[in-house]
Amino acid sequence: MKLAVVGGGSTYTPELIDGFARLRDTLPVSELVLIDPATERLELIGALARRILARQDHAGKVTTTTDLDAGVAGADAVLLQLRVGGQAARLQDETWPLECGCVGQETTGAGGLAKALRTVPVVLDIAERVRRASPDAWIIDFTNPVGIVTRALLRAGHKAVGLCNVAIGLQRRFAALLDLAPSDVHLDHVGLNHLTWELGVRRGGPDGEDLLPGLLAAHGEAVASDLRLPRAVLDRLGVVPSYYLRYFYSHDEVVRELGTKPSRAAEVAAMERELLALYADPGLDEKPALLAKRGGAFYSEAAVDLAAALLGDGGTDVQVVNTYNNGTLPFLPDDAVVEVQARVRTADGSGPVPLPVPRLDPLFTGLISHVTAYEDLALDAALRGGRERVFKALLAHPLVGQYDLAEGLADRLLAHNKEHLPWA
Ligand code: G6P
Ligand code: MN
Repeated sequence: MKLAVVGGGSTYTPELIDGFARLRDTLPVSELVLIDPATERLELIGALARRILARQDHAGKVTTTTDLDAGVAGADAVLLQLRVGGQAARLQDETWPLECGCVGQETTGAGGLAKALRTVPVVLDIAERVRRASPDAWIIDFTNPVGIVTRALLRAGHKAVGLCNVAIGLQRRFAALLDLAPSDVHLDHVGLNHLTWELGVRRGGPDGEDLLPGLLAAHGEAVASDLRLPRAVLDRLGVVPSYYLRYFYSHDEVVRELGTKPSRAAEVAAMERELLALYADPGLDEKPALLAKRGGAFYSEAAVDLAAALLGDGGTDVQVVNTYNNGTLPFLPDDAVVEVQARVRTADGSGPVPLPVPRLDPLFTGLISHVTAYEDLALDAALRGGRERVFKALLAHPLVGQYDLAEGLADRLLAHNKEHLPWA
C-alpha cells in the first residue's frame, strides 16, 4: 500500500510515522512518500522517518519529493496536512482579531476565515492533481479548517474525508478515567468540526450503556478542567463540549486572556525550532516526548484507523469523520459537512455513511446552524474572493454579527493576507 503525505515536512510527521510503525497490522504501508516544498526540512524529516521505521523493523520504504504530481502517482491514499503561510500566517490569524475585541484563533472566528481563504484554493489545486495522477486515491484531509476544506473537496467531487483528533483525544481521556480500553468507548459525537459535543459515552458501541452521567458525576471536575470550562457548564448541559466551544461559551474571557499571554503560534514556533534540532540528531530514532505538547495527539492513530477502514477491511468500522450531512442533522442542508460517527468501511468503497443522530436540543441546533451558514459563506468567499464576500461571512459568524465589527475585521483580514490572496 502506498501512502503520500502532502506537508510531509511538517514537524508532526514523526507522529504519523510512529503510528504507521506501531500499527502495521492495521495498515500495512509498503511505501510512504513525503511531499513538501521545503527541501531542507523534508530531508531532515525523511531521514528521521527512515530511522523510526528501521528501529521498529518496519520494511516500508520512505521517499521524499518536492514534486507533488510524481509523489502522489499510484498512491492509495493521500494525507493533506499543510499550513499555507506556515506559523507566521497563523500568528497573524491569532493576533489581528484581538484588535477588534474578537477571539484570535486559527480555526474559530475571523482567524479561521482567513485560514480558509488562504487554504481552500491551494487544497483544491492539490486535489485536482491527485485526481489526475491517482483517480482512485482517497484524500484524507487534516488541513484546517477541516469542515470548510472538506466541504470544498466534496463539492468539487473529490473522494475525500475530513479528519480531526478532537474525538479520539476525548475517547482516550474518557477511557482512562473509566478504566476501559479505548476501543470499548463509543462517543455520541455530534456537530461540525471544532464545534462538537459528546452527547453520550457508550460502553462497547453505539448501542451500549451510556456512561456519561456517571463520568460527569465522578470526574466532572477533571473533564471541565481539561476543557477550561466551568464544571457547571457540563452539568447543566449534561454533555461534554469540545474545548473549541470555550471560544463561544467563554468568548470574552478568552479574549482577555489572549491579550495577556504569548500566542499559541509563538509557542508552537518555539517548539518547532526545538523539535527540528532534535530531529537533526542522527541518534534519534523515535518520536520525541516534546511532540506530545502539540495539539495533534493521537492524530496518527486516527489517520491509520481511517485509512485502514477506507482502503480495505482493516481498522474500526465506525469512526468520527467529517463528511456530507445527507440528512443526518435534518435542520442542515444535505451538502453541509458534519462531524459525526460514520460507518467508514462500506462494501462498495463509496465512503463514510453517518450513523443516525437522535433529535437535537435547540441548545445545539442553533449554534450548529449558525456556524454552518457562516461556513457556506466562507467557502463562497474562498472560491470567488472579494471583500464583500469576506464581510458577509464575518457578519454571519455568531462570534462577530455586528456591522462595524465585520467591517473592521474584513479590513484587517485583507491587509494581513495580501501575500496569499491574489484578489485582495
Ligand atoms: C488539535 C486540532 C487540530 C489543530 C491542533 C493545533 O489537534 O484538532 O485541528 O491543528 O490542535 O495544535 P497546535 O499544537 O498546533 O496548537
Ligand atoms: Mn482538528
